[in-house]
Amino acid sequence: MGRAFVYVILGGGVAAGYAALEFARRGGYSRGELCIISEEAVAPYERPALSKGYLLPEGPARLPGFHTCVGANDELLTTKWYKENGIELVLGTKVMAADIRRKTLLTATGETISYKNLIIATGARALKLEEFGISGSDASNICYLRNLDDADKLVKVMRSCSGGNAVVIGGGYIGMECAAALVTNKIKATMVFPENHCMAHLFTPKIAEYYENYYISKGVTFIKGTVLTSFEKDSTGKVTSVILKDGKHLPADMVVVGIGIRANTSLFEDQLLMDQGGIKVNGQMLTSDGSVYAVGDVAAFPIKLFDGVIRRLEHVDSARRTARHAVAAILEPSKPRDIDYLPFFYSRVFTLSWQFYGNNIGEVVHFGDFTTSNSPRFGAYWVDKSLIRGAFLEGGSREEYEAISNVVRRKVKVANIAELEKQGLMFAIQE
Ligand code: FDA
Ligand code: NAD
Repeated sequence: MGRAFVYVILGGGVAAGYAALEFARRGGYSRGELCIISEEAVAPYERPALSKGYLLPEGPARLPGFHTCVGANDELLTTKWYKENGIELVLGTKVMAADIRRKTLLTATGETISYKNLIIATGARALKLEEFGISGSDASNICYLRNLDDADKLVKVMRSCSGGNAVVIGGGYIGMECAAALVTNKIKATMVFPENHCMAHLFTPKIAEYYENYYISKGVTFIKGTVLTSFEKDSTGKVTSVILKDGKHLPADMVVVGIGIRANTSLFEDQLLMDQGGIKVNGQMLTSDGSVYAVGDVAAFPIKLFDGVIRRLEHVDSARRTARHAVAAILEPSKPRDIDYLPFFYSRVFTLSWQFYGNNIGEVVHFGDFTTSNSPRFGAYWVDKSLIRGAFLEGGSREEYEAISNVVRRKVKVANIAELEKQGLMFAIQE
């Protein structure tokens, strides 16, 4: 039993949605030739909403409101949109095996789906505490956050813990955004992570200090430089406290875990070249097989701006752009064009909002006012070999974010570090 498509998008997340949009805009396929296969039961949606609007106590975001590609000038890709555009959605269907040589995928329901071109958009999965040697993370009040089911569980558990205590494991994106959501939902949050400061992979100690102080003013507690070792549970299996390495017990009505992700590569590991924990692709998002492309969190691709260094990025803008680039490459093989991507990350918590562009390498030059909690505006440049390589800005306007992205994109030369520090944001605006 099986079906045959010309184009198959494997995975139904952010990248899948933007790939579908690009196909629909360009045409070049007929009804019944293109499908999306997704383990999730719903059409692709904007995953970032799950740690932001979805967790709001008042008027939370709900589907269909945040299907891809809602946002500036793009359409909202509801189930109806896929139908109207002749794109088949094969939902609630996990692919269990792939045969690159035969160009077939085997689903959990036993169906074989064949393709001429495959776009792998399988994203990533949240790392489990078990992978760090800690058992019991299936407790009913321990929450991870990767998909809609996780978000529904988190909302349900939060509602049952109002006024209580939450322990947040991990000081990265999920930890920071969920801790903010927890206190907004009137739950006391204690963040525990092994590094000396939050967002250690991106923030400088000075930037981190600002956000940590802001969080403390909102009632969040930080326990840094340590990890948990186990949980204490009641007779129903619910966690009642988190036990740290130094033996300290933290009372917990709920636990949120954000300790990183692994790209979903397992179907392809012995069939395609891998790099950086993902599937290696070239500038057209083409894998080591001529019929197979990879996009989004699962793809390790060359960053022209970083002299072709291969990177696997775990961010939504990269998922959107790599997906669209792959579709362009598939539909216009006569015009091969290598992706020229400027890495872009952002976050929004409480009333704060920051953006980062480029690479956080080299000497850091901070600028702006790090002391106010009211409409703060501060940031940093990263300067390597006298060139701007990265820039961070909190509280910028659209024009200001564009200005910092431009100086990074152009690798503007810095003649004098002290002068750059003095000029701060004006340096980017005047360039
Ligand atoms: P994504 O994970 O979106 O989709 C993968 C899809 O593949 C899923 O539908 C999955 O079910 C499916 N799949 C996997 N294996 C399969 C199989 N074998 N068979 C069938 N289907 C399979 N980034 C950012 O820049 N700013 C932000 O604010 C945020 N916020 C944010 C919040 C939260 C809660 C998360 C979890 C993540 C973010 N991100 C983010 C990261 C961003 O969401 C992420 O980079 C993109 O979703 C990646 O898109 P992909 O399509 O590659 O994977
Ligand atoms: P992350 O990589 O941002 O952070 C992981 C954190 O885990 C580290 O900062 C560290 O503090 C912690 N950690 C590692 N080992 C640990 C251990 N043994 N015990 C305790 N803590 C430990 O990953 P995440 O926060 O889990 O986010 C998952 C994914 O979701 C990432 O791909 C991220 O890019 C994405 N995401 C992005 C955004 C955004 O861009 N605004 C928001 C939410 C999620």
